[in-house]
Amino acid sequence: MAAPHKAIPSHVAIIMDGNGRWAKERGLPRIKGHEEGAKAVKACVEGCGELKIEFLTLYAFSAENWRRPKSEVLALMGLLERFLKEKTSEMAENNVRLQAIGRLTDLPAACQKQLHKSIEQTAKNKGLTLILALSYGGRLEIIDGIKSLLREVDLGHIDRAMIDVEMFSKHLYTRYYPDPDLLIRTSGEMRISNFLLWQLSYTEMYVTPKLWPDFGKEDLFAAVEEFGRRQRRYGAL
Ligand code: FPP
Repeated sequence: MAAPHKAIPSHVAIIMDGNGRWAKERGLPRIKGHEEGAKAVKACVEGCGELKIEFLTLYAFSAENWRRPKSEVLALMGLLERFLKEKTSEMAENNVRLQAIGRLTDLPAACQKQLHKSIEQTAKNKGLTLILALSYGGRLEIIDGIKSLLREVDLGHIDRAMIDVEMFSKHLYTRYYPDPDLLIRTSGEMRISNFLLWQLSYTEMYVTPKLWPDFGKEDLFAAVEEFGRRQRRYGAL
């Protein structure tokens, strides 16, 4: 199938859900589901490149995911580090710029080191910006944004009467990126799960029953095609 060429979203955000169920259905350990999930990430990044999507934000590890068994957390961190090590040169070749949002200092030191190295090595790329949400929570981001704004007020850099939507947006982790146009969630769950709470206000949602490891380029194209049929009114007529 050729990539659709109707309205293409500038920013796609994805809640990659269902790795555990994918593994369970096959009698495999959960980490196998995550490993297959990492392969789906590669396909999705390629698909976004083909569609000339500018920004792709992936919910790779939530602030709440730390509550999972230690063995799964360690395996996920190892997978992330390996993914970055192995894929950075490919990202560089494909003009992908890597970025990350979340409380990145919560990540294990080796992971942080690799992440910053990969970000640095891809910094000059002008194609797709791939943003990994890591140790990310939407409520935490808003709290961090409020603290950052209050610091500016305390320093006398801004007057509290000047605070508006635009100014607050500039104090969020996502200040360098536009709000997502399209949110995709896999595995059929109808939840936001503390993802980009502020930024998703007017985002079109697309939920598919497919589990994340089964989500391929064709599924991305189908979601984008559906996006092209949506009427966006932002509350107006
Ligand atoms: C949700 O599935 C997925 C995660 C918590 C982690 C997402 C990680 C990956 C897709 C792989 C690694 C990512 C990168 C960028 C290398 P789940 O475990 O909640 O699934 P379940 O609801 O079926 O249990």
